[in-house]
Amino acid sequence: MRSYKVIFQPGGLEVKVQPGNTIMEALESAGISADFPCGGRGKCGKCRVKILAGAEEPTAIERDILEAQELAEGIRLACSTRINRDMTVQLPNYTHQHNILTSGKKIFQIEPHLKKILVEVKKPLLDKQYSDWRRLKDSLEQHGYNGDALEVPVSLVRRLPETLRKANHRITAVMCGSQITGIEEQDTTGTMLGMAFDIGTTTIVGYLLDLYSGQELGVVSMLNPQTRFGADVISRIAFANQEEDGLAKLHAAVLEAINKLIREAADQAGVDKRDIYGVSIAANTCMHHLFLGVSPRYIAVAPYVSAVSEPLVASAAELKIDINQAGKIFVLPNIAGFVGADTTAVLLATELDRSEEVKLVIDIGTNGEIVLGSRDRMVACSAAAGPAFEGARISSGMRGAAGAIDHVYFRDRLEYSVIGGGSPLGICGSALLDTVAGLLELGIINKRGRILPFEQITNTKAHAYKDHLLEHKGEPAFLLADAGKTGHGRPVMITQNDIREFQLAKGAMAAGVKVLMETCGIKAGDIKEVLLAGAFGNYLTPHSACVTGLIPLELESKIKMVGNAAGTGSKQALLSSREYRRAAEIAGFAEFVELGSYPKFNSIFAECTYFKQFH
Ligand code: FES
Repeated sequence: MRSYKVIFQPGGLEVKVQPGNTIMEALESAGISADFPCGGRGKCGKCRVKILAGAEEPTAIERDILEAQELAEGIRLACSTRINRDMTVQLPNYTHQHNILTSGKKIFQIEPHLKKILVEVKKPLLDKQYSDWRRLKDSLEQHGYNGDALEVPVSLVRRLPETLRKANHRITAVMCGSQITGIEEQDTTGTMLGMAFDIGTTTIVGYLLDLYSGQELGVVSMLNPQTRFGADVISRIAFANQEEDGLAKLHAAVLEAINKLIREAADQAGVDKRDIYGVSIAANTCMHHLFLGVSPRYIAVAPYVSAVSEPLVASAAELKIDINQAGKIFVLPNIAGFVGADTTAVLLATELDRSEEVKLVIDIGTNGEIVLGSRDRMVACSAAAGPAFEGARISSGMRGAAGAIDHVYFRDRLEYSVIGGGSPLGICGSALLDTVAGLLELGIINKRGRILPFEQITNTKAHAYKDHLLEHKGEPAFLLADAGKTGHGRPVMITQNDIREFQLAKGAMAAGVKVLMETCGIKAGDIKEVLLAGAFGNYLTPHSACVTGLIPLELESKIKMVGNAAGTGSKQALLSSREYRRAAEIAGFAEFVELGSYPKFNSIFAECTYFKQFH
């Protein structure tokens, strides 16, 4: 069958594709990470690319979403344009550079799950014709193992005779509890590495660790390639359920990503991936199921149960993880259908289960996971915040990547900072939050979120921003950067509709906090600390979060950023079998409140969409 050549610029990467493939599919075959916030359904308009050669007539979707000027310049939607001739495509310069949070601080005691033991196995004798396995067991007994309890997989028995003889009966046994998972010739006890993963709906972060010292040897990250099948958990569950081989495609995509990150981390650190023996996985419940190749179907329908919540240990071979095949995969336990192992990992890292004081732990993403409590009681919920905080469904929104305005300052004049410097391309969640907070404080928007006509604004300080107030497509808007100052020649602004989206997202989060406080009988004043985890939580301005009511106002001075706590928890679970067991205790101990069935939830949510302290 004939194929067409697509060249991506800048960089000149070439890829051959079948006729009729979309540019989105071509990007995928080229291994280029790109954002498809609406899952490639032609709804968000965020996958703009420029066709330098080989452009065809725009599709109906493109005509609907793109301006006439853009169409004339060759701008198209990567998810909509099909390739029916050779093509050269210019990508936006932010395609690869995502600002993914990888840091987080934690000190804990190392107690590896796996052990390597050097054994000198006795040679067989004519008068003692003991089997190879029997003699290996005898040697392990001398290291304190109970021979009768030892388990060995058949695959290992197959290799045992040759390995023993090649190594002159001096081998290293890799042990996981009473199971012997690997045998290696000679002494390999000096090295044992592992990788801890945090698989998010949007990004995957992996940490390469020395399992003996706990030293971090490298950090790698990438966008979750499942994004091309759906931007959020719900659309991925729908894809898994409704599309042919949907589950298999999602499972394959995440496995491929994990294996790619393992290779990348090993190459960067100059180590052999066969020295990696342990992998831990922290993920939300849906990502957890997709990683295991388990259908997430019943997570999305009442009563929203998962197939498995308990911690799972699997072999690397069984899960096709490309590390030493004696290795093990440690999957952290989930708390509920929408409060997953990533939250368990956050709790492990923040030690809420050991805290005498009441704390509020919030991980804000498309779904905001919120946990309130202490070592006496922990109650969790999941608030359907939607993707507004990640920049989706916001007219100028984008993720926290190069080119995104991340903070906005209302000083004598409007100022902002841009990730990576340079001209802005859009705004990310933290800038949306700052802008709404600033507009509220200046009285430019009222408590219902309405952008007021200039004549109705009574605060004289707001007069300095008169020129920023404009009308866009028939609705009021607030201009952050005009077309001449942006990297793409389109203005960056916040529209009335964006503020409505923001209100829904912050309303969902604030209602979640309120329901947990009611459930636990705790008032805001009783909360000693608010711990913010995850990318958005770590970049937001606490004052803006409190002004807008995302977090109760009286807690502003108690807010603390805890970095990528899910990643930190995953590392702890990998480095310490005790911490892994603690994760199971946390998941079993945490109570879960289903917000949808909480009495009067709808009215609590509606009330929380307002900006209460403003008039
Ligand atoms: S329009 Fe293409 S990803 Fe949304």
